[in-house]
Amino acid sequence: MPGSEMILEVKNLSKVYDKEVINIGQLSFRRGRIYGIIGPSGAGKSTFLRLINFLEAPTTGDIYFKGEPVFMNGRGAGLPVLQKMTMVFQKPLLFKTSVKENIAYGLKARGFKKEEIQERVETLLKKVGLNEFAGRLATTLSGGEAQRVALARAVAFEPALLLLDEPTANLDPSNVELIERLILDLNRDTDMTIVMVTHNIFQARRIPQEVIFLHEGRVVETGETEKMFTSPEDPRTRAFVEGRMIF
Ligand SMILES: Nc1ncnc2c1ncn2[C@@H]1O[C@H](COP(=O)(O)OP(=O)(O)O)[C@@H](O)[C@H]1O
Ligand SMILES: [Mg+2]
Repeated sequence: MPGSEMILEVKNLSKVYDKEVINIGQLSFRRGRIYGIIGPSGAGKSTFLRLINFLEAPTTGDIYFKGEPVFMNGRGAGLPVLQKMTMVFQKPLLFKTSVKENIAYGLKARGFKKEEIQERVETLLKKVGLNEFAGRLATTLSGGEAQRVALARAVAFEPALLLLDEPTANLDPSNVELIERLILDLNRDTDMTIVMVTHNIFQARRIPQEVIFLHEGRVVETGETEKMFTSPEDPRTRAFVEGRMIF
C-alpha cells in the first residue's frame, strides 16, 4: 500500500547546545506523504531538519532510514543513505554556474548518463518555468527564481526524502504559489516523502497531509492536517493554529 512504508523514524532524539533544543520521543515519516512541521520561531524546526538530514549529530537518539539505524551518537550516515535525501533551505545556495548546470549537479554526482541528465533537466526547467533561463548564471536570478532552481536541483534525482526548511519564506505570492504547486505535483506524481517546515499556518493547512506541532523542542501534537486545525487536542496547538500564540 503506498504511504505505508516507513521512510524515516527517530527515537529518543535530543540535541543540546547551551540548552536542550530538541527532545523527541518518537516520530515517523511514511513513504509518499507530505508532512508539515509547524511551530514558533526558536521551536527547533530547523535543528530537527538538520538532524534528520545528518548535517549534525544528535546528542542522544537514533535515526532509522527504511527501518535501518543510520546514525547513532557520532557514527556517520553512509553515502547510500545520504544519496537518497536532500534539503532545500530558506535562502537558496546556488552554484556560480548556469541554471542548467545547477539542476544537473546532483545527477552528475550520482553518475546518471548524459542523455538522462539532459532529459531530466529539460523537463524540470519547464516545470519550474525557467526554460528561457537555462543558460543564465544562477547567481543573477531573483529570490523566487533562485528558489525554483534550488527545488528543481533537489528533486532532479528523485530523492526518497525531500526536506524543505521554510522554502517560501520571503517570496512573493506568485512564487509561493508556483513552489506550492511543484510540491503538490511531486506528491501526486512520485512517492517521495516530503517534510516541510513552515511557520505559515495557511501554508501548513494547504499543503501537508499530516502536521507536527513543535514547541520548545518537543512534539506537542501531531495528526492529520484537518484535525490539527479544526479539533486539536492541546490548547497550545489551538493557540498556534488560530494565530494566537505570540512569537
Ligand atoms: N548552532 C547552534 N548553537 C547554539 N544554539 C543553536 C544553534 N542552532 C540553533 N540554536 C538554538 O536552538 C533553538 C532552536 O533553533 P532553530 O532550530 O533554528 O528553531 P526554528 O527553526 O524553529 O526557528 C534556538 O533557541 C536557537 O537559538
Ligand atoms: Mg528555522
